Amino acid sequence: MAMTTDEQLAIYGGPKAKTTPNIPMYPGGLSIGDEEKRLVLEVLDRKYLFRYYGPEQYPSKVAELEQAFAEKFGAKYALAVTSCTSALISALVAVGVGPGDEVIVTGYTFFASCASIVAAKAVPVICDIDDTLTMDPDDLERKITPRTKAVIAVHMRGVPCDIERIAAICRKHNLKLIEDVAQACGGSFNGKMLGTFGDVGCFSFQYHKIITAGEGGMCLTDDPKLYDRLMGYHDTAACWRPDRFGEERYEGELFCGVNYRMSELTGAVMQAQLGKLDGLLQQMRQHKARIKSQIADLPGLTFRRVLDEAGDTAISLIFLLDDPEKVQEFATALQAEGVAASSVFGKGIPDWHIYYHWKHIMRKATPTPEGCPYTCPHYTAKGGEITYSEESCPKIGEYLSRAIHLDIPAQMTEDDCDMIAKGIRKVAKAIL
Ligand SMILES: Cc1ncc(COP(=O)(O)O)c(C=O)c1O
Repeated sequence: MAMTTDEQLAIYGGPKAKTTPNIPMYPGGLSIGDEEKRLVLEVLDRKYLFRYYGPEQYPSKVAELEQAFAEKFGAKYALAVTSCTSALISALVAVGVGPGDEVIVTGYTFFASCASIVAAKAVPVICDIDDTLTMDPDDLERKITPRTKAVIAVHMRGVPCDIERIAAICRKHNLKLIEDVAQACGGSFNGKMLGTFGDVGCFSFQYHKIITAGEGGMCLTDDPKLYDRLMGYHDTAACWRPDRFGEERYEGELFCGVNYRMSELTGAVMQAQLGKLDGLLQQMRQHKARIKSQIADLPGLTFRRVLDEAGDTAISLIFLLDDPEKVQEFATALQAEGVAASSVFGKGIPDWHIYYHWKHIMRKATPTPEGCPYTCPHYTAKGGEITYSEESCPKIGEYLSRAIHLDIPAQMTEDDCDMIAKGIRKVAKAIL
């Protein structure tokens, strides 16, 4: 039967399903307005750009942000830092990860989650995913060795990982748990905020994230000693902190750190952005639900499994095609329809969210020729020897090679959502 014009794919000259421009995925960035300007100007007018002092003393914007963040997320302590990478490194150091240790992390995450382990002088062990596209708890248990000290659980593309099970595994094996919440700020699992399940939760305020100051990060913890160690490491042994200055209040508190302190300007922008978090999440959740409801009946595709829909931040919609051979054609046809969709996996496409492409890790590349942490005597003495291979996490290739990914910009309209759904239906009908 000949197709009517409306059904003809845009890639073959038919009309586009989506005729409006695609909105970029900068939920917080695009919402920057008067409140951010007011708070930044306040910092500049006061000439108070450093959290501990200025020409006159004022309440620190960074300290106020930390307090508001801790309260909102239900954690005892929040520590503002320069990025999620610096949050992760600080967290690893704080929980005691160092030479000779292994840390398990998923192979589907931004490279920084893994690189932070090497920066903390430990050896990353890469874990497979399941159909949530996050850490597979069964593979996590398989990858634990006597050298394992910690686990980094990543809430990838806005969706909570199986954090309760992962936390239970960590408790059983006496492992430290760090949550990478860079992509899922404001998400939850069974009503509890992501970032509060492990020993430390790490957040990013980089420009692509839900709320942003261009750069920035946050650590959450409930443990006062971990907070002290985080504080010390991120601030050259907490040397600026009024109640510290090189004094050790208990053994093990004082050690050399780095400077990952957040600037007052960043603190000001983030105070305004934090106030917008709930509104942005609500918009993205409505959009995602609206699109999903219009494509849920399509044969030949399944949604990524989401363990707790209410806790999904809804920054992305990922569905898997039954047939991986059709993914590229599907994505290209959707793009021609005006829908900003993409495939996720391709061995030739160097995407730093998939471990195959982490060349520095795969080759165990190090800045000096000694090869630490991989050849560190503390590691080899414990029997540690690691080789990385493309075959070590087969489900990453299996699931991601079937995946189509769409961003869910908060600033979309309902019409945009309906046109996206129309485009997916049209392409699915023609191709699947
Ligand atoms: C999952 C994940 N972890 C860590 C990071 C690193 O965050 P930052 O750029 O703030 O260091 C990112 C940023 O893209 C990320 O997506």
